Amino acid sequence: MGNKWDHFYKKSYAQRLQLIADLVGLSDAQLQLIHQNEDQVSGELVENNLTSYPLPEGVVTGLIVNGRHHLVPMVTEEPSVIAAASNGAKLLSAGEGIHCAIPEKLVSGQVIVKHAEIKAVSKFVETNRQQILNIANQSHPSILKYGGGAQKVAVRELSPTFLSLDLSVDTGEAMGANIINTMLEAISNWLSDQLQVETTMAILSNFADEEVVEVTGQVAVAKLASKSLDGRQVAQRIADASEVAQLDVKRATTHNKGIMNGVDAAVIAFGNDWRAVESAAHAFAARQGVYKGLSTWQVVGDQLVGEMALPVPIGFVGGASKVLPLVAVNQQIAQIHHSQDEMQVIAAVGLAQNLAALKALVTDGIQKGHMALQLKSLALSNGATTQELPAVLAQLRQIANPNSQTVKEILKTIRR
Ligand code: MEV
Repeated sequence: MGNKWDHFYKKSYAQRLQLIADLVGLSDAQLQLIHQNEDQVSGELVENNLTSYPLPEGVVTGLIVNGRHHLVPMVTEEPSVIAAASNGAKLLSAGEGIHCAIPEKLVSGQVIVKHAEIKAVSKFVETNRQQILNIANQSHPSILKYGGGAQKVAVRELSPTFLSLDLSVDTGEAMGANIINTMLEAISNWLSDQLQVETTMAILSNFADEEVVEVTGQVAVAKLASKSLDGRQVAQRIADASEVAQLDVKRATTHNKGIMNGVDAAVIAFGNDWRAVESAAHAFAARQGVYKGLSTWQVVGDQLVGEMALPVPIGFVGGASKVLPLVAVNQQIAQIHHSQDEMQVIAAVGLAQNLAALKALVTDGIQKGHMALQLKSLALSNGATTQELPAVLAQLRQIANPNSQTVKEILKTIRR
């Protein structure tokens, strides 16, 4: 006898929802919430579609990248991230703004070959280089129309058992996962035919070290003064914090998490695969065999200078960007028209986010700035309406260590 969950994906939307509701006892209000957020178009992106999951979107203002002003839409659930990014953007954009460069933009991938002689495969690839690139391009010919295509091929020995054939492809404005995977599968088939070798898999690499944005930004130390420290002291403390992130993996991970707060939020707003950007960033942070902070800050004369190299494997077209209607709106808000602009704006936000986090950490500490937004979140999560918020917040600010119970009591009094 068939299980009622069999072929769940074949059931109608109403049937799927009914099955879930019956199993877990969803209330009418919960069902309404699911319906309210359901979006049939974006639902087509995933299987077993249930609803859409809205996250807050805000805008970072005042970011200047390579002389151009950008507003940057950011999607995040974390309070303080957008305020901090705006703060960092303002500091870094007071002078010439942030400078970004992209030395190359190639997506890479690999065909893993088992039990083959490195010398023989290397020689074969050397002799047949152009043919391998042609096979790749013929498997996805439209890429040539856009001026892209397979560009490099090399062989690496991974162990006495495994080799990796590495392919690098210019995928134009696309993130390029489908393009390169098609190419790699074509090469894999051809290679196993020609050399009679076993190929274990053919897949893009998320390492993305050929899609790196080099970012630099500076701020006059005088602009960093806090209530109790002068600007030079704050700048030196930020430089110290960045040094610690080069020395210690515990701190480096948190330092980089702060950078990715900004990066991911912008990557999501532009409809890209943030897991790809995350994995590339962290692998890149460990590229020398030790995991380190992705950015460094130094005091040079009267400036605090920040530098970062960050892989940003994203696309301007393709993937979810066409299906999710807000992506085009966000690209327009940010005034970006190409994948390279998008990469630069994303990396610049990462550096701005990092500066703001370090400045807060080495001066007042992170909690002070977080408090206002944390209180808002505490009030909302305990049932305060947006109309009740100002009154609830005013009372919460007077109380040391408020919690859910405090909010509930305040709400009771207000509603009375
Ligand atoms: C919090 O989401 C991010 C920070 O911890 C980053 C950092 O410590 O650099 C504030």
